[in-house]
Amino acid sequence: MIQLRGKKILLAISASIAAYKMPELVRQLIKAGAEVKIVMTPAAADFVSPLALSTVSKNEVLHTVHEANSWNNHVALGRWADVMLIAPCSANTLAKLANGLCDNLLCAVYLSATCPVLVAPAMDEDMWEHPTTKQNVARLVGFGNKIIPVGHGELASGLVGAGRLAELDEILAHLEAHFSTVPKLLSQCSALVTAGPTYEQIDPVRFIGNHSTGKMGIALAEVLAAQGATVTLVLGPTSERVTHPGVEVIHVASAEQMLLACSNVFPKMDIAIFAAAVADYRPENVAHEKIKKAGDTLELKLTKNPDILKTLAAQKSPNQVVVGFALETQNEEENARKKLKEKAADMIVLNSLRSPGAGFGHDTNMVSIFQNDGTVQELPLLSKTETAKAIVQTILTYRNARKMFKD
Ligand code: C5P
Repeated sequence: MIQLRGKKILLAISASIAAYKMPELVRQLIKAGAEVKIVMTPAAADFVSPLALSTVSKNEVLHTVHEANSWNNHVALGRWADVMLIAPCSANTLAKLANGLCDNLLCAVYLSATCPVLVAPAMDEDMWEHPTTKQNVARLVGFGNKIIPVGHGELASGLVGAGRLAELDEILAHLEAHFSTVPKLLSQCSALVTAGPTYEQIDPVRFIGNHSTGKMGIALAEVLAAQGATVTLVLGPTSERVTHPGVEVIHVASAEQMLLACSNVFPKMDIAIFAAAVADYRPENVAHEKIKKAGDTLELKLTKNPDILKTLAAQKSPNQVVVGFALETQNEEENARKKLKEKAADMIVLNSLRSPGAGFGHDTNMVSIFQNDGTVQELPLLSKTETAKAIVQTILTYRNARKMFKD
């Protein structure tokens, strides 16, 4: 988290149950080299201890406009900070900020802050969905504040829905993206990535799937986004999460849905990487009712799925780079070269199953990149993020060598 080193972060905490997560966020910010000062609403202290926060931040925590005989200078705080992060931002605080109310220190700091402001709302789903909250969020966006999208899941009410505070790694990723100063090599670029398995329905309760987790494709999408690309990730069913705010995720289940989602966006893409483990076949007929147990055997007739990579590579323009993946268990190199030709891809990334750390579910991978000019680049066993960085670097070099740019 190189971006956060030396950064001054003003964390503003309001009264939401998610406030209990803030000492851990502060700990991670400090670990990343940031300096953290904290303001909180008086009611937030019911959810998280100021003592815990001052201990982890190594700074005094402020929650009133004046203490004893001294005045807490809210103007100075807003000027000190490189960024103000309001997390969690309750429905009440959101409403106050949207309307310029100033009846506590947090609101006073917000109103006088000259630094950029990131807001991470947290509330119950019904409050989040209320038109007033939507209007308040829109007002904050209109003021130039960035909203860190709420998560979906278990809520304090016991209900499940939208409104959870974004996960801490997502908040950190938003802060990182905010401070990102790396020269953005792909800032003019659009990229499509497919990832994860596909589920091909047999009946309402069963499907044909595979062990892909989507980790490699997600790593590629995040590395592309970190380089400034506008990324669309078409993602099959997985429990893996995508944290980079620059990645738009389209969730799909089957190969046909994946093809449709990809076909809609492919023409405007500069780079397309097909890392999904797409089922080659799907049941010819999907049963409307659950198939009942009957005889000792059951025959399922399968029909071929569309080859997404092949279909779209056939439509590619000279300025588009198309990259496929191959997972082979025998004659690996020969098959990778064959695939490169048959699918008319610019590159095929061959996954080796020979290395213990490579393949499905692992956080590491060992790949070779076959280019259509015959070049082969063998990479060692690396983390999936490092592998993704190397693949993206190879794509960049390939585009530069061929001057594949938009006018
Ligand atoms: O032919 P094979 O499945 O080995 O090819 C793998 C490559 O083709 C991967 O990039 C995969 O994402 C893509 N593929 C696809 N649609 C299919 C099958 C594979 O896009 N139906």
